[in-house]
Amino acid sequence: MSILVTGGAGYIGTHTCVELLNSGYEIVVVDNLSNSKQEAIRRVGELTGTAFRFYQADLLNKEALDMIFSENRIDAVIHLAGLKAVGESVDLPLRYYHNNIAGTLTLCEVMKKYGVKKMVFSSSATVYGMPESVPILEQFPLGATNPYGRTKQMIEEIFN
Ligand SMILES: NC(=O)c1ccc[n+]([C@@H]2O[C@H](COP(=O)([O-])OP(=O)(O)OC[C@H]3O[C@@H](n4cnc5c(N)ncnc54)[C@H](O)[C@@H]3O)[C@@H](O)[C@H]2O)c1
Repeated sequence: MSILVTGGAGYIGTHTCVELLNSGYEIVVVDNLSNSKQEAIRRVGELTGTAFRFYQADLLNKEALDMIFSENRIDAVIHLAGLKAVGESVDLPLRYYHNNIAGTLTLCEVMKKYGVKKMVFSSSATVYGMPESVPILEQFPLGATNPYGRTKQMIEEIFN
């Protein structure tokens, strides 16, 4: 099985890639390196002793995504790419809405074109806003209180 990991050069992405490779999956990684470094990709290869394709590309670039899907057999997507800092999202809300939501829509459009129907999406506990109690249960009402959380909440709604 071949899995496209978006944001695969990031914190969670690199760990995910190592686990996938060590479990025998083939992976393809796409990341624009806006919050990560090529060195992280090199280290994943070094740690696992396994080669994989890495594309430095932006999810907002539909042509680049199309090329990735046309050059690789992709069975499923683990979608981690996104901007993730709550405070920064308050200062730069348009950047967050555009990057996270439009990037996800572009990804979905290309997945649809290539008939890829399986996706794991990394949302955020921020979609629950200020919960009445902890631990937060999945069925708690949604109510993000900042642009970052709202991007995740909107993407969850799109997927529903
Ligand atoms: N770290 C956490 O505690 C946490 C908690 C909940 C949810 N999440 C979510 O999990 C995902 C991964 O988090 P992380 O901590 O690894 O973040 P991270 O910033 O380390 O990784 C995200 C990666 O996505 C890339 N990226 C961002 N926008 C992109 C775009 N338009 N096109 C291509 N690549 C893009 C960045 O360069 C980065 O490498 C994020 O979506 C984040 O919102 C993280």
